[in-house]
Amino acid sequence: EMAGKQQNWVLMVTAQSPTNIAVIKYWGKRDETLILPINDSISVTLDPEHLCTTTTVAVSPSFDKDRMWLNGKEISLSGGRYQNCLREIRGRASSIEDEEKGIRIQKQDWEKLHLHIASYNNFPTAAGLASSAAGFACLVFALAKLMNVKEDQGKLSAIARQGSGSACRSLYGGFVKWVMGNDVNGSDSTAIQLASETHWDDLVIIIAVVSSRQKETSSTSGMRESVETSALLHHRSKEVVPKRILQMEEAIRTRDFPSFARLACVDSNQFHAVCLDTSPPIFYMNDTSHRIINYMEKWNRFEGTPQVAYTFDAGPNAVLIARNREVASLLLQRLLFFFPPLPDTDMDSYVLGDKTILKDAGVKSMKDVEALPSPPELKDNVPSQRHAGDVSYFICTRPGRGPVLLADESQALLHPKTGLPK
Ligand code: DP6
Repeated sequence: EMAGKQQNWVLMVTAQSPTNIAVIKYWGKRDETLILPINDSISVTLDPEHLCTTTTVAVSPSFDKDRMWLNGKEISLSGGRYQNCLREIRGRASSIEDEEKGIRIQKQDWEKLHLHIASYNNFPTAAGLASSAAGFACLVFALAKLMNVKEDQGKLSAIARQGSGSACRSLYGGFVKWVMGNDVNGSDSTAIQLASETHWDDLVIIIAVVSSRQKETSSTSGMRESVETSALLHHRSKEVVPKRILQMEEAIRTRDFPSFARLACVDSNQFHAVCLDTSPPIFYMNDTSHRIINYMEKWNRFEGTPQVAYTFDAGPNAVLIARNREVASLLLQRLLFFFPPLPDTDMDSYVLGDKTILKDAGVKSMKDVEALPSPPELKDNVPSQRHAGDVSYFICTRPGRGPVLLADESQALLHPKTGLPK
């Protein structure tokens, strides 16, 4: 009999997973249910200290159904993507034994036992910062640990992929490639690590969270419409991306920042060109996004070699990758010059994440922002415009590690006795 007489135990695991930003984009599926892409993609994992999902998964004979809470609010698990992930993980569960708690779960018991899941993002979900990538990666990683799944990280990435395509790349830290694969069942469509987060640790990433009132088209439906209507997307996936993937791999391997930056920028721009080539056209970037591209292009040209790469996902936020800390502080000065906070904003709530970049930039107060000089790459005769309020806030971060277990029970999101949210 399962677990003997004691039926009120709760067994749980807590994990933390990073989000990621693609530098060669995934856009378009060849299979909607299995989530199989039409091209390879490459991403940088972002430091979970600044952007991550924490998930606690619990099992208990006292639970009468699977339940999930996201940022404290109960959500439905009935969606196909959750169901597919849960089924794939349950099918690979092994028996476990916790002598201390007197818990024994046989392999076949997992089919009948119910789960409680609580998930929390350490960044605003509404900001449009790829919360589904971190979320599904964390869910699959935590469940695999709880259920003693004996698959390698690559196999787990193929399960996370069925929750959200980009989630498979969040199973690793550093630089990650999602190999599209050939199998019809998707078994070879998995993520692999190209290099760890320590391989290129000069890089600094600044995210500009752009103010937007617009409800954006979801990635899922946007890419479906592109596959159906954009000839440019098919040219991209067949002719452009395969070569770019090889070049990007080489740029990462050799830490060749100019090549890395050029490839990331043209790939982001081509992805947004595909959106424009979709019928009806999809606009993810707004005037602020376009302005940021212009400023970065001007600066890179002025310096004679790229200092910063930009990339944009399915929304107006800019992800800027600076070649090192020194450049990052110059970048932050420029960003604060062009996009100062609204009056009475506290600098501490305007620049989030790694505050040492702000310190290096020497900007402590609103007065310092007002005193910032116009960047030299701008022509002196044109008075430079400043756009207060167009950016909600900045997040300074860097390449980071993959998912980890949080052993400390105090970090669990579910109550150890009841299995309900704390
Ligand atoms: C623009 O992974 O969110 O961020 O697989 O339908 O869940 P689904 O889509 P999703 O798409 C991400 C698209 C992108 C580019 C990228 O991350 O590679």
